[in-house]
Amino acid sequence: MVDFKNDLRFKGIEPFPTRLWLSSPTMHGDEQRWVDDAILTNWVSTVGRNIDEVEKAIAEYVGCRYAVGLSSGTAALHLATKLAGEKLYGMPKPNEGTLQGKQVFCSDVTFDASINPVAYEDGEAIFIDTERDTWNMDPEALKKAFELYPDTKLIVLAHLYGTPGKMEEIKKIADEHGALIIEDAAESLGSKYKLNGQWVETGTLGDYNCISFNGNKIITGSSGGMFLTESQEDAEKVRKWSTQSREAAPWYQHEEIGYNYRMSNIIAGVIRGQIPYLDEHIEQKKAIYERYKKGLADLPVTMNPYDEKNSIPNFWLSCMLINEDAMAPHVRGEQEELWQTAPGKSSPGEILAAIAAFKAEGRPIWKPMHMQPIYRTHKFVTVEGNGRGKSNAYIAGTGIDVGADLFRRGLCLPSDNKMTREQQDRVIEIIRRCFE
Ligand SMILES: Cc1ncc(COP(=O)(O)O)c(C=O)c1O
Repeated sequence: MVDFKNDLRFKGIEPFPTRLWLSSPTMHGDEQRWVDDAILTNWVSTVGRNIDEVEKAIAEYVGCRYAVGLSSGTAALHLATKLAGEKLYGMPKPNEGTLQGKQVFCSDVTFDASINPVAYEDGEAIFIDTERDTWNMDPEALKKAFELYPDTKLIVLAHLYGTPGKMEEIKKIADEHGALIIEDAAESLGSKYKLNGQWVETGTLGDYNCISFNGNKIITGSSGGMFLTESQEDAEKVRKWSTQSREAAPWYQHEEIGYNYRMSNIIAGVIRGQIPYLDEHIEQKKAIYERYKKGLADLPVTMNPYDEKNSIPNFWLSCMLINEDAMAPHVRGEQEELWQTAPGKSSPGEILAAIAAFKAEGRPIWKPMHMQPIYRTHKFVTVEGNGRGKSNAYIAGTGIDVGADLFRRGLCLPSDNKMTREQQDRVIEIIRRCFE
């Protein structure tokens, strides 16, 4: 490991006086007004005008008929998963999940919140490998998965770091197999995608769609999430489940299991103040991405890619991938890593440690779900078919595993929309010096 402050490669670079964040909340003042409004009118609850207004505004922005405010993106994903399970397999006993004994095809390189609800509902996640063009679920691997497990009827997919995946292909495959799609648009609010020639927003591309207002997202309420749908029946069901599944009786009467997942009117106040700034945040994130792309252009790295013809990402996080031949030695165990410097080369471990030493926050790429200890016994499908047990002591070559490769060579760069040009130039300079 390296003492960066005394490493001659970094001579002349000063640490940032205050930490530069990966992606932190950006408040504008209007948030306070709507939080105050909730308090002054005494709507300090899970009902109130702020909730109504943000549900209306997000539905309008995204272009869907119904938006249901919930306590988190995870809550939205859980209820979306439960709803899909009930639609496909019927209503289970109260102590059973809707997906008991059922398999679900899931994005592999994502936050575990995307796919944990499959386990909450007693289902089995099967992880689908990632493509290199957008770093999302690979339609070719999905086709293979349907060949191997044709009875599967549900797909959960995320748009990584705000970059829309190959939805046209994926929707076609889903339709061919009569499968439903849960779209996790937690990271991609405001991203656009050209579906069959028409520009639409992410959050409208699945049968059940979810967004998040978690503190690091493109706009935030500190926490919060939403379920988005065209179906009045589904919206009403999610609303009911999120408020403890109360039946139409004078007392608390329950025929279904319920949850306390509704959005708070205080949090909705923060979100209400943020919504007018969504497009401005996207512009700022895009400028950050473009500056990294330019500033890192002559290094042996590439940026997280997107389909320039058919998508407009929200550029939530800027990421980079180190070319294979410019990777310095870097090994990761379950909880620790070791890396070495090498002339002209670097590694995610070194770069993240270097920028951290100068007080800037980056992050490894999401560790793929099929590599997570908790899901190691779960199936994993690549374009070649079964992605498990691929190496052979007697034959060279290790099989394709795009997610593992992105995790090994990639990293998320400081992408805070309050980062100044000068601050970003310093981050770029630190990265450049890592390759000296
Ligand atoms: C891809 C993805 N899915 C789901 C979530 C969960 O959202 P929340 O934190 O609002 O529960 C997040 C972020 O936190 C996410 O990045």
